[in-house]
Amino acid sequence: MNVLTVNDLHLDYGSGASANPILKGVSMHLQRGEVVALLGPSGSGKTTLLRAVAGLESPKAGTIDIGERRVFEGGAKGGRALELPAEERNLGLVFQSYALWPHKTVFDNVAYGLKLRKMASRAIKDKVNEVLSQLGLGHLGERFPHQLSGGQQQRVAIARALVYNPPVILLDEPLSNLDAKLREEARAFLRELIVRLGLSALMVTHDQAEAMAISDRILLLNNGKIEQQGTPQSMYEAPDTLFTAEFMGSNNRLPAQMVQRSGSGARLQVGGRELNATARGLGEGKDASALIRVEEVKIGRSPVPNGIELPLLTSMYLGDRWECLFKSGDAHVRAYSKHRLDPGQYWLEMPAEKLWVF
Ligand SMILES: Nc1ncnc2c1ncn2[C@@H]1O[C@H](COP(=O)(O)OP(=O)(O)O)[C@@H](O)[C@H]1O
Ligand SMILES: [Mg+2]
Repeated sequence: MNVLTVNDLHLDYGSGASANPILKGVSMHLQRGEVVALLGPSGSGKTTLLRAVAGLESPKAGTIDIGERRVFEGGAKGGRALELPAEERNLGLVFQSYALWPHKTVFDNVAYGLKLRKMASRAIKDKVNEVLSQLGLGHLGERFPHQLSGGQQQRVAIARALVYNPPVILLDEPLSNLDAKLREEARAFLRELIVRLGLSALMVTHDQAEAMAISDRILLLNNGKIEQQGTPQSMYEAPDTLFTAEFMGSNNRLPAQMVQRSGSGARLQVGGRELNATARGLGEGKDASALIRVEEVKIGRSPVPNGIELPLLTSMYLGDRWECLFKSGDAHVRAYSKHRLDPGQYWLEMPAEKLWVF
């Protein structure tokens, strides 16, 4: 069952001659119990889509349904046939800036919305304490936000969103204020929490590793449109477009000429050699973009059938491996090595099924 359905949503900032289209026909859904990541580069419209679903921005066309209930419907000539205010949409919202009240305790920050709804104080106490303990904050109810770490503040913001038992929670870059190490811990915590409580969540992020780690499905937004959607595995391993392929991983992009193409097989001219590749896009012309993930390039010292020969330019130590850059003229290729490499010429093998052409 879908807890959220968005159909052909259009949204402009500004109006008339100065209208700036931001969402250009976005359709998506979220199933009960599902975690969907809304991924895309900065400015692609992720926050705008989340805010439109929440009722904080007004689209000009399309529909938004929460569960069975329609909450937005565009009308004739850019009017609105139906538009429920944010407070009637019953969604849990977590913003990038946690937006906690500095002069309220943790307990009161979380209880505030229930008080507004005139819930009995006994019931408020039980509910707030339940949510705080679900989030591992049970002992911090009397503290003020400035007495908490960044990770704890972020959990208070989540507790505040969950206290109403909303059918859907919307999170906008909820981990981006945490430093790198805390961020990895927090994403595991958040994933585990969402699954344990059976929540349905739509989470915005610009970080593809975070999107893959946390979600069941990824929607990749490109300039106000969904570029591709699918499981993290399918987005990473079988991108349909060059944009998706480039966004989802760490890549080598090589200038190439198409020599021959038959079905999904392609023969390319790359750096003076002919290589077998896999055709993923519709590319018809002679010039093509070949792409291979950095981790798929195999480094060797002797000639390989599907590879090119380049000198080592430099290597960088990453702790668990070395990242090596091979370069000659226009051709440059990055690859990982377990060990430090001596200077010299190397063969870089690019397996045909991992060398993609778009
Ligand atoms: N209130 C606003 N008024 C005008 N333009 C805006 C407003 N908010 C965002 N934009 C523009 O809309 C585009 C999408 O913004 P946003 O949805 O915040 O992107 P993202 O969250 O993907 O980084 C950007 O070009 C941004 O400059
Ligand atoms: Mg944003």
